[in-house]
Amino acid sequence: MDAPIGVFDSGLGGLTVLREIEDALPSEDLIYVGDTARVPYGIKSPETVTRYSKEICDFLVQKGVKAIVVACNTSSALALETLRPMYSLPLLGVLEPGAQAAVDATKSQAIGVIGTEGTIKSQGYAHAIRQRLPQAKVVGRACPLFVPLVEEGWARHEVTRQVAEIYLGEWRGNGIDTLILGCTHYPVLRGLIQEVLPGVTLVDSARETAKALQALLAEKGLLGKGEKRGTRRFFTTDAPQKLTELAARFLGHELGPVEMTNLGAD
Ligand code: DGL
Repeated sequence: MDAPIGVFDSGLGGLTVLREIEDALPSEDLIYVGDTARVPYGIKSPETVTRYSKEICDFLVQKGVKAIVVACNTSSALALETLRPMYSLPLLGVLEPGAQAAVDATKSQAIGVIGTEGTIKSQGYAHAIRQRLPQAKVVGRACPLFVPLVEEGWARHEVTRQVAEIYLGEWRGNGIDTLILGCTHYPVLRGLIQEVLPGVTLVDSARETAKALQALLAEKGLLGKGEKRGTRRFFTTDAPQKLTELAARFLGHELGPVEMTNLGAD
């Protein structure tokens, strides 16, 4: 089916998910929305995150998408279950694919999860893991400073290393053999987190979500038939220039033009 796929995030971080979707499904047309006017979602209430997420889904539906990927972990944790029954098209979040990959990877059955305050408080990852592996021991930690450090371009900065040590150091050698990077920005810190937690398998929800999307589209008969590289449209709710500047950090290549939207019918 030749309609585009919608992908949205609270801001720029969801480009890490878009990047994996580009790799897995290069010929699909993609529409990305980054809600840069209202980022961060990670410190907001479930009601607010759900309201914002619904506005973006409505916008994407108006654009004629065939499926929506909720690239934001916080939105996947706090809003997805409420939103899913409201739409007739498939909505895929990042929690279930990430949880499944962690369950597949763990041998010690002790799994760590890091994310925003909202994601960790919701226990969404813990529930998704225990549904698949009831005896799993799941420990979670909110790492709120990682998001601004990544946006600042400090993925390899000494300060970021110290912050990572404070957040994660206590998990070194204590039985956790798998860690879910449960936030859009954390794949950018993968190398550094691996140095703080050597030997721990890092699960990148972004990559797992792209694989799950491919399987979901195939199952529903929605895979695109085109052979050419798909088209891309990028929307932000504030300052398109910021998305252009920071995109390469998340996406690995330059963006095309970025359009501004107030999420109305434009
Ligand atoms: N995109 C958010 C997430 O994956 C991180 C940034 C925010 O707090 O909005 O949870």
